[in-house]
Amino acid sequence: MTTATTEALRLTDRINRIEPSATMAVVAEADKLRSQGIDVVDFGAGEPHFATPQHIKDAAIAAIQGNFTKYTAVAGTAELRDAIIQRHAADFNSDYRREEAIASTGGKHALFNAIQVLVDHGDEVILPVPYWVSFKDIVRYAGGHCVLLESNEAQGFRVTAEMVARLVTSRTKAIILNSPSNPSGAVMSPEDMTELVRFAHERGIWVLSDECYVYLNYTGKNFSVGSLREYKERMVVLGSLSKTYAMTGWRLGYALAPAPVTSAMAKLQSQSTSNPTSIVQKAAVAALKGPQECVAQMRSEYIELRDHVVQGLRSIPGVTCTLPEGAFYAYPNISSFFGRSGLKSASDAAGRLLREAHVAVVPGEGFGTSEHIRVSYATSKAELDRGLERMRKFFAGL
Ligand SMILES: Cc1ncc(COP(=O)(O)O)c(C=O)c1O
Repeated sequence: MTTATTEALRLTDRINRIEPSATMAVVAEADKLRSQGIDVVDFGAGEPHFATPQHIKDAAIAAIQGNFTKYTAVAGTAELRDAIIQRHAADFNSDYRREEAIASTGGKHALFNAIQVLVDHGDEVILPVPYWVSFKDIVRYAGGHCVLLESNEAQGFRVTAEMVARLVTSRTKAIILNSPSNPSGAVMSPEDMTELVRFAHERGIWVLSDECYVYLNYTGKNFSVGSLREYKERMVVLGSLSKTYAMTGWRLGYALAPAPVTSAMAKLQSQSTSNPTSIVQKAAVAALKGPQECVAQMRSEYIELRDHVVQGLRSIPGVTCTLPEGAFYAYPNISSFFGRSGLKSASDAAGRLLREAHVAVVPGEGFGTSEHIRVSYATSKAELDRGLERMRKFFAGL
């Protein structure tokens, strides 16, 4: 045997700092059960159940037929970057220039790059709880330290500037906002967001605003921090086509930020993925510049599904659930069952729900709370009913 094979495999410190996504773990376990022929009701997936709209698919096919299949500029074509800033300006009254926009291979990629260029070893990043699984690990990968901010569940997981102020130190580099939120569906009011951004600006703290569900806001008051033009010198707006246009598999996201940040992100991107797929860029232009009725249609269907699932969850004795005001997740609190039939935690509940009731949900621990499970309602009403019935029986049997 060679020395190489006898030595223990030693991976880098930075890869050992992070964990695989909790959401992906649930998907894998549900897939395993399905491959054994078990009928699983899937409330785990974080993606729209709608098909990508036809005009977007047509644009991709036309791009292939037209041989738009070569490298493009690393940050995306000028056509796409212009489409991104124009869409944002039309919807949120922002004034970004082309150099302040970068297209990446999904919103997660844009977020990853933004954090790598802004967060240094030892920097603190304030993260409201519950947080989207990847925020914590991406910050850690950059060497940053996450400072968790407990939100107020009784007030719909509210986060205010005052709450943030208590956690600020001389090492605070950034705060990550995510409204509407994955996993809670909470939406920050424009007033709370403005106040928070103003506060961060005064202190020189970066605001990274993950707005990948911004078009799935059910309050009627759709808001992007990008509209706060006077504060944008310390702000990164992260967007994605994944949820808005039901394009999760296409991988197209973007960031709007000061030009030195987008160009640093492009430098990093030039040494990893290079440009997002050329064909997908053409499809993205069609999505952003084409008719937006598809977005409104999906939004109104999500509202119906939201009402349906929340009503169903609240009717299960012992389950409480705040009203999600955006995205497509409900985040019920199931802590009243802890201690019954040996049930210990949310991950325990999620594991048993999957194995015993064949319903896939994501446990709250991955999002920083141990009393909740995340239920994705991006599915049909019939499927919601099937899953809710199984959950009702499961909890009644504890
Ligand atoms: C809050 C949040 N941000 C970013 C993303 C990344 O989306 P994508 O990389 O598909 O654009 C997701 C996907 O689930 C998300 O929930």
